[in-house]
Amino acid sequence: MSGFDPAAQIASRVNEMRESAILRMARLTRELRARGADIVALTLGEPDFDTPEIIRRAACIALEDGYTHYPPVPGLPELREAIAEKLRRDNGLDYGQQGVLVTAGAKQALANAILALVNPGDEVILPAPYWNAYDILVELAGGVPVVVPGDAARGFQPDVAHIAERVTDRSRLIILNTPCNPSGAVFSREVLASLAEIVRAHPRLMIISDEIYEHILYDGARHVSIGSLPGMLERTITINGFSKAYAMTGWRLGYAAAVPELCVAMTKLQGAFTAGVNAFSQKAAVTALKEGAAEVERMRREYERRRALMLRLLQEVPGISLQAPAGAFYMLPDVSALLANAAGGLPRDDLALAEWLLLEHGVATVPGSAFAAPGTLRLSFATSEDNIRKGVSRLREGLQRLAQMLPQGA
Ligand SMILES: Cc1ncc(COP(=O)(O)O)c(C=O)c1O
Repeated sequence: MSGFDPAAQIASRVNEMRESAILRMARLTRELRARGADIVALTLGEPDFDTPEIIRRAACIALEDGYTHYPPVPGLPELREAIAEKLRRDNGLDYGQQGVLVTAGAKQALANAILALVNPGDEVILPAPYWNAYDILVELAGGVPVVVPGDAARGFQPDVAHIAERVTDRSRLIILNTPCNPSGAVFSREVLASLAEIVRAHPRLMIISDEIYEHILYDGARHVSIGSLPGMLERTITINGFSKAYAMTGWRLGYAAAVPELCVAMTKLQGAFTAGVNAFSQKAAVTALKEGAAEVERMRREYERRRALMLRLLQEVPGISLQAPAGAFYMLPDVSALLANAAGGLPRDDLALAEWLLLEHGVATVPGSAFAAPGTLRLSFATSEDNIRKGVSRLREGLQRLAQMLPQGA
């Protein structure tokens, strides 16, 4: 042994990254399964469908056709044009081809956007609940996350008045996600218009709008892109991707759209990091956009059935309150009534509750604290009906047992 400790050499920016509660639950689930435990997971934010065949076939044909070389860093012109056209047609966003950057998943699009805009000390407003990658990326950029709590009673629409109070001259970005992971809220046009007003009144403030669940909507909910509101195109970076709508998580395909100057800045970062996305996947993405609509709708209908099933089953679970999600494939029941009076060894917060449900009842959920929504659990219904039945049944048994163990009068 040389006495040299490689682990001690790791840069502080990495050491300072917290383990997310999502990754922690995933790790515990893996460890328990490796020891032979039977665990039902309601944790995964991933379609359980295979990528539709027409899209898979397009990738095979592209490979045969020689799409095996470096692509242009911002993406194949053909795909950038197809995305620009989609944004114009579906979202009322006229960024043009020069405003589209193809990325390795929406996650890389978010990383590019945040690193391109946030200077150390800049404040980034995160209306909660929010997807947990946002604060990690903001902190990596040296920015300061400013969390504005959400409110189930208002359907988890962003709290505009509270957001306005948190705006300062150091504010740089507001990150929105509609439809929202984890709440399933679809932000209303009125709320988005009020947020746009706040942004337009500020000299530097911009929006990152993560719209990756835009096609997964229920009960007639309508998706609105904030960049399509008056004066907002140049102040908005719109993020989207293929993972959720087209069941293409493993392809790592997403995009950012912005005015060309910002697109060039993000492309510069991408050139340094990855030099772009593999070429044959990009060809398949063109097929997804041009020919995939029926498949997207087929999967959405299936999520709709699963959503109805989960909602029905959750009505039998004691101690929770729940809003039906208008979009995405998650539910965020409030379990705080069961935590408030916990005594002895009983779980006192959602983190402890999720771990207790996993260890005692074999059902994996994600604690809402992972999304700045303490007192809730996130349940995914992007899984089979059988899994939903088993998982919710275990949840019911666990929460029933917990309710009985609480001190009298609780
Ligand atoms: C809100 C949100 N944005 C972005 C992503 C990342 O998507 P991608 O697979 O395209 O990186 C996810 C994945 O869970 C998500 O929930």
